[in-house]
Amino acid sequence: MPQHTRRDFLKKGTSAAVAAATVPSLKVSGFHLSNDETIQVALVGCGGRGGGAAVNAMRAKGGPLKLVAMADVFEDRQANCVKNLSDAVEESKGAMLMDVPADRRFVGFDGYMKAMDCLRPGDIVILTTPPAFRWVHFQYAISKKLNVFMEKPVTVDGLSSRKMLELSRLADTAGLKVGVGLMSRHQVPLQELYRKVKGGAIGDILLVRGYRMHGPAGYSHSVPKPTNLSEVEYQIRRFHSFLWASGGCFNDFYIHIIDHANWFKGAVPVSAQGMGAKHYKSSPEGEPYVDQNFDNYAVEYTYPDGSKFYFEGRCIEGANGVYSSYIHGSKGVAIASRANDCGGPSAIYKGQNFDDSKLVWKSTDTTNPYQNEWDALVAAIRTNKPYNEVPRGVEASVSSNMGRMAAHTAQVVTYDQMMNCEHAFAPHVDKMTLDGPAPVMADEHGRYPVPQPGVLIDREY
Ligand SMILES: NC(=O)c1ccc[n+]([C@@H]2O[C@H](COP(=O)([O-])OP(=O)(O)OC[C@H]3O[C@@H](n4cnc5c(N)ncnc54)[C@H](O)[C@@H]3O)[C@@H](O)[C@H]2O)c1
Repeated sequence: MPQHTRRDFLKKGTSAAVAAATVPSLKVSGFHLSNDETIQVALVGCGGRGGGAAVNAMRAKGGPLKLVAMADVFEDRQANCVKNLSDAVEESKGAMLMDVPADRRFVGFDGYMKAMDCLRPGDIVILTTPPAFRWVHFQYAISKKLNVFMEKPVTVDGLSSRKMLELSRLADTAGLKVGVGLMSRHQVPLQELYRKVKGGAIGDILLVRGYRMHGPAGYSHSVPKPTNLSEVEYQIRRFHSFLWASGGCFNDFYIHIIDHANWFKGAVPVSAQGMGAKHYKSSPEGEPYVDQNFDNYAVEYTYPDGSKFYFEGRCIEGANGVYSSYIHGSKGVAIASRANDCGGPSAIYKGQNFDDSKLVWKSTDTTNPYQNEWDALVAAIRTNKPYNEVPRGVEASVSSNMGRMAAHTAQVVTYDQMMNCEHAFAPHVDKMTLDGPAPVMADEHGRYPVPQPGVLIDREY
């Protein structure tokens, strides 16, 4: 198979890359909604973030935006989201617009098409399912000439990364605007810090450090499937537990800090080495953990200039909790995220200690980056300015994938190796059915295939 380099992918597509990604060519052309038209919005993936993104959409500057259709594979998840959103709309006393009658609520694997079919070219679809389905839904959105807001991660393996980059180019050709939920980029304290760091406030960046360490979160840990759920249903409901669905907790949880490390360095890592393990094999109740995640990871990334980014991730109850990021320069040090994925205030200190007497600058902005990212997307749509965050979404996703693969295989993994990796986790995700075979199947003990560092070295399971 031909090898595709970072440059091939990031600069402009090669025909080989297109062929490898097998994305059908889509006939699309530009369009533009007039400034006073209500932008209609469809939500695909009615979970926690989908509901949050729908609220951000309905509250976006540059409105009006109205939620008109919703799709999910599970009726209970959708019903819950309809209720939460209806309550929020009622409380908003007319500030938020939603009109999603029963015949515009779609359930099932083809629901995404039906929801998008309710929209006109130039409207917006929100893609907030687990990332495995991102390229499938993005492809359909482009064919319908829809602007898109999609959540991170946008890819989980080499195949989906190649597909997303190709689709991104089609979206550009069509003049579509696409936002990606890497909200660090829209966090004002980080934007201010970025400008100061670029202006030399801490000298040359020598080291970036990032940590996300807390107890089990989301669906990072799973016990054997209950008998009343199909394999596919179980794996989608608990998507952080399955590498095909989410890229695992490494990709899903750690991507934000990895993304802002790349942003400040102005580069993607050339290589990663790492380690990790699943220390605890069973739940406090004594049931075996059967998911595909390690519960602790440490990865060293190397950037093209030789500088390093150290990332540590852990999902272990009772262990020291750290969830923040730091940038060390030749003249000073910066707190990028003080808490969580990109929580302010960011700050700059002289020297390498976080000593109050050496504080040079501290941010004061407290605007919500989840709202900011929507305001920016809608402004680009209203003014018809080029806007496509998918390339950096792919870069952050590939950077996450390569760190995870380095830890899972105990090998050095380069960016190009990750991009070209032939182990496709779920190549037929577009044809999935609830009762069909799942991308990974459990053994007789209910356990799914797990990484074997040093034994499996060119695939993760
Ligand atoms: N930017 C952020 O800070 C942030 C925060 C949380 C989640 N996220 C991202 O948002 C995405 C969703 O996460 P979540 O926490 O909302 O998960 P969730 O499980 O709460 O929601 C996902 C929803 O998608 C539905 N779904 C699954 N497959 C589908 C398909 N093929 N078609 C239609 N619906 C489908 C599920 O039934 C569920 O309702 C993930 O990619 C996650 O990483 C981002």
